[in-house]
Amino acid sequence: MAERTHRIAATADIHYGKHSRGALHDAFVEVSRSADLLLFCGDLTDYGLPDEAEELVADIRAAVKIPMLAVLGNHDFESGQSDLVCKILDGAGVSVLDGEAIEIEGIGFAGVPGFGGGFGRRMLNAWGEPLIKQFVQESIDHAVRLEQALAKLQTDCKIAVLHYSPIRATLEGEDPEIFAFLGSSRLEEPLNRFRVSAVFHGHAHNGILDGATATGIPVYNVSAPAVQKKTGKPYRIIELNP
Ligand SMILES: [Fe+2]
Ligand SMILES: [Fe+2]
Repeated sequence: MAERTHRIAATADIHYGKHSRGALHDAFVEVSRSADLLLFCGDLTDYGLPDEAEELVADIRAAVKIPMLAVLGNHDFESGQSDLVCKILDGAGVSVLDGEAIEIEGIGFAGVPGFGGGFGRRMLNAWGEPLIKQFVQESIDHAVRLEQALAKLQTDCKIAVLHYSPIRATLEGEDPEIFAFLGSSRLEEPLNRFRVSAVFHGHAHNGILDGATATGIPVYNVSAPAVQKKTGKPYRIIELNP
């Protein structure tokens, strides 16, 4: 088990477009100086276009000197070219997790995008029209892939990387009408069962930054617009003492 403090930098919802080159260059330089690892919690691109991913990797190649991990967000799927987006990111050293687990310097990371469905007693159930069942099944599939990834990790310190939120608390500030599209409690159960050390998610541009699961696991919303509003920076750095 690693004993020193690990500084995890994380961001999400950076929504790189076709002309975004340079947008996060300086932030990437800062992060490389002050953190051990950088997480991208989805919506790296605006429309999921290869050209947008190329803009981002140009900034990454110029400035990021630390290991990087990512999960995709809903925007990264928009153009049906997510495989190509992943390939471009991978070429720049960003490992995209989709149900996979990876260990870096004694810390285990498990990642999936996640999906919507709502929270607690009001969570959508697989009942009625086939399309509703399909929607719920997608949500269940992500939770299962998260569970399978966590099960693979042998490390004491396990980190979950998501785009959608596993809890309602960090969505406070968003319009309540869209809470059910911003996350699902189905993602929370495996986090508690595997006693992960921390959870990072994005997607909640207007949410609050900190929450916790029912068992007290810290949940960090790292959506860049939300973080920027609070701290003036488009990223957070969380210190972990595994
Ligand atoms: Fe977003
Ligand atoms: Fe999103």
